[in-house]
Amino acid sequence: MHSMPYRRTLHQALRIILVGPPGAGKGTQAATLRERYGLAHISTGDMLREEVRRGGPLGEQARTLMAEGKLVPDGLILEMIAQRLTQPDVEKGFLFDGFPRSQAQAEALVQVLGNARRVQAVIQLDLADEEIVSRLCGRRSCPQCGRAYHIVSNAPRQEGLCDADGTALVHREDDNETTIRKRLAVYHEQTQPVVDFFGQLNLLHKVDASRPIEHVEHLVEQCLEKVLQKEMASRRVLSRRSRSRSLAFR
Ligand code: AP5
Repeated sequence: MHSMPYRRTLHQALRIILVGPPGAGKGTQAATLRERYGLAHISTGDMLREEVRRGGPLGEQARTLMAEGKLVPDGLILEMIAQRLTQPDVEKGFLFDGFPRSQAQAEALVQVLGNARRVQAVIQLDLADEEIVSRLCGRRSCPQCGRAYHIVSNAPRQEGLCDADGTALVHREDDNETTIRKRLAVYHEQTQPVVDFFGQLNLLHKVDASRPIEHVEHLVEQCLEKVLQKEMASRRVLSRRSRSRSLAFR
């Protein structure tokens, strides 16, 4: 009888990471998960683009590196993340998108979250490099809300305008073939070890991101159901243990 409210509480407390090469669909899936599970969506790419828009020295440094397809220095990223994690919305659960991207970022994240807020699952969106190049060359993004479209496979209702807020869509500066290939090389070299690290921690769930958007949503949902079931089982064990401990002290 009480299973529904309990599940809702667990949904709100989900702590997950979406990882995968550029253009694998992290932002697209994150938008759905954010709404479905009420999670704080923490995208370092969006945060950096916001810094670039603001135009300060930090934004200027980030703009150059992003345009070259290189990673922004760990120190800067970790400072942004530490600040973001102090905001109250993260208590309802969070979803990292595009972070961590280096071994140093992954290790710092595990440290900063500790056991109480540990990550429960890392979803890896898996996609071949050639498909990525075609997806990113045709991507159009909303500079206002970050929503991603594709001129062929995921076109907006009205050409060139965001469905959500009507803002004129842009072609991101780093979505040209040369920079895309550089971003892919950086991913294989610096981020793949992070994926392996989470594999060793038994947190990794691999999803075939070559399927249509709704199908990928369904595969991600299946992974999260498994995570929730595992969480519920371990909570049951913990509460049984604490009940039997308190009986032993009577
Ligand atoms: P960031 O903004 O994180 O970019 P990214 O990781 O390269 O990923 P993208 O946003 O390009 O792609 P996505 O996976 O979100 O795909 P999307 O859903 O849009 O980072 C940009 C830069 O910032 C980095 O290069 C780096 O310089 C810097 N940076 C960011 N984080 C950093 C960090 N932690 N450390 C250091 N530097 C950092 O989908 C792509 C397209 O495909 C869209 O057109 C979409 O409509 C379409 N699509 C999506 N799913 C499907 C599907 N299933 N089938 C068909 N089409 C689909």
